[in-house]
Amino acid sequence: MSVHKEIKRVTTHVLAEMKRNGEKIAMLTSYDYSMAKLVDQAGIDIILVGDSASNVMAGNETTLPITLDQMIYHGKSVVKAVNRSLVVVDMPFGTCSGNPLESLNAAIRIMKETGADALKIEGGKEIITDIKKIIDAGLPVMGHLGLMPQSINKYGTYTVRAKEDVEAQKLIEDAILLEETGCFAIVLEKIPAELGERVAKQLKIPVIGIGAGGGVDGQVLVIHDMLGISQSFSPRFLRRYLNLADEIKGAVGHYVQDVKSCDFPNEKEQY
Ligand code: KIV
Repeated sequence: MSVHKEIKRVTTHVLAEMKRNGEKIAMLTSYDYSMAKLVDQAGIDIILVGDSASNVMAGNETTLPITLDQMIYHGKSVVKAVNRSLVVVDMPFGTCSGNPLESLNAAIRIMKETGADALKIEGGKEIITDIKKIIDAGLPVMGHLGLMPQSINKYGTYTVRAKEDVEAQKLIEDAILLEETGCFAIVLEKIPAELGERVAKQLKIPVIGIGAGGGVDGQVLVIHDMLGISQSFSPRFLRRYLNLADEIKGAVGHYVQDVKSCDFPNEKEQY
């Protein structure tokens, strides 16, 4: 039975129920009002205001440069548009890294100033005291393990994570720790499908995958990638549902032609 059809508003409680009922959770990113409105109306369960805004909105090579104020700006714009989806905002690089009080202050700023429903934080055991502090203060947290783009300078590569036993075991332990600490869900990025399924089976909270196979409880993609707006990013896990880059360039080219040839505006398009 589908939980999702009848509900007016997706909450962390609804997500837990979806997992219990075996209903997959659909999550996408959005960063602005207009896109978030469409995504919400289309029936997505979770909208992630991801720090991937750093790449797709600001043109940075990594997620590291985006600031707390910039994440708050994107979060606020998205929240205004949304009626039904659960809105999760990423804590940007450097705002949750070993000083629990500072992390809590950043988390409170995001929740207070955006009106979002929850936060997402990259990392496991190393920052668990920060995560605990935030959850204990009543703020819902989604964990993020596997490939963690905020640690790109440590890894040096965006290849599949946790292929080796030691790293896989650490990921499982971190996932259990995040659940025990009170996270309401976890994102697993770019790991072997078998490991994703194993973690999803072991945890009671929903596990949402991006490049983590079909055995997890839900999927997330970056909206610019799945709509075919970003052109150079084509990992194996990405399914493109549109080729918007070509559509947009075609439409803009047509407009340029119409302006140059004085076809636009015509008589009906002026006062
Ligand atoms: O920032 C982001 O878009 C993310 C997803 C890739 C999960 O963290």
